[in-house]
Amino acid sequence: MTDALIARAAEILRINDLGHYTVPTHGLYPFQWNWDSALSALGLFHIDEDRAWREIETLFDHQWEDGMVPHIIFHKQDEGYFPGPEVWGTGRTVPTSGITQPPVTGFAVRRLYERATDKAMARRRALALLPKIARWHDWFYRARDPHGTGLVAVIHPWETGRDNSIDWDDAFDRVPTDGVGAFQRRDIQHADPAHRPTQEQYKRYIWLVQRFRSLGWDNTRLHDASPFRIVDPGFNAILLRSCTDLADLAEELGETALAGDQRAQAEQGLDALEGLWSDAWQQYLCYDRVTEALIESPSVGGLIPAFAPIAPPRAAAIAAHIDRLGERVTYLIPSHDPAAPGYDGMRYWRGPSWLIVNYMVADGLERDGHVATAQRIVADSLKLIEVGGFSEYFDPFTGAPCGGPEFTWTAAMVLEFLKREPVASG
Ligand code: DGY
Repeated sequence: MTDALIARAAEILRINDLGHYTVPTHGLYPFQWNWDSALSALGLFHIDEDRAWREIETLFDHQWEDGMVPHIIFHKQDEGYFPGPEVWGTGRTVPTSGITQPPVTGFAVRRLYERATDKAMARRRALALLPKIARWHDWFYRARDPHGTGLVAVIHPWETGRDNSIDWDDAFDRVPTDGVGAFQRRDIQHADPAHRPTQEQYKRYIWLVQRFRSLGWDNTRLHDASPFRIVDPGFNAILLRSCTDLADLAEELGETALAGDQRAQAEQGLDALEGLWSDAWQQYLCYDRVTEALIESPSVGGLIPAFAPIAPPRAAAIAAHIDRLGERVTYLIPSHDPAAPGYDGMRYWRGPSWLIVNYMVADGLERDGHVATAQRIVADSLKLIEVGGFSEYFDPFTGAPCGGPEFTWTAAMVLEFLKREPVASG
């Protein structure tokens, strides 16, 4: 079975490989997505080491002058996706979107370097990527934390990767829809509409895009001008893990000044993250920068911080939280607590389990010694593949496949789970 899963995962990576970048899945997502690429590179490594580096290098070939790395790179025309480059209007030679996504590349590049069989090649490529990734991290603290809190905000739900999370239902209600003309969604031609965000949410997604476009995509203005400013603990944790990993990698490569800067950012952010911890929920919560209040919503965004080097009691509490969830669902980790209002087990980020989240959380829990919980997450992830195939996401009770099929990062995570060092017994 293991060999068959590995072979199928490798086949999916090949199907979605366009030479210098992968598409998440043909049809639904026909371009290069930012954090998809970074995580997929880990899977590509098991097939072709050179190709894995190329995936991330392509992403950074499209870094903006201010340091931002966009969330979509529209390498070629494709009418099958909305909103395409003409809606974003970012004016780039190779068109891109104008917002970003979870910065997981610091983590991914360190991992590629550590595993490299050709160390000279990896050293050269890591040294070239280091300053670019650092520039992106610095951009976050400049553009998305302009008031110096230590935590960055997202200004569009698409930035979080958790597009339609229940976490920001209230905040998103405050985003207007006036001036958004008629548009034709393409996602629901490729995927079951019951698995996707609603039309009302799409109107707000587009309103925000139009607002930012009207400000010339000037990142010195967008944060304060956005009516949607959420501090997502999961997003921040990914950034903090990447800062820490980049610092470690930089030290190893002799780039001590860069290492020091990244470590200082990580330390400040980890201190500030503590302000999002909720004793009542035993997890982190989102913070709404507009209302200046924590958002009482138990999503996986508050568990993803296990990926970052958080304080041991917090990691232990998250492991215990996930163990309790594991008694209630068949397949960890649901993206929202099934008992909470709004939970929907097949609708994108309102309940389904995602392998990339499982991978990041299991990685952090294993590092922090919560091995049994990590093993359960890994085992559930592989069972999901057997039940639901290599889908984008899965119903946490039935394992039913949701979203797009033959998904690149799902396949990449399967290769990671099966081909990396096994999780030791705890
Ligand atoms: C989509 O189109 O659904 C994406 O998540 C936006 O990046």
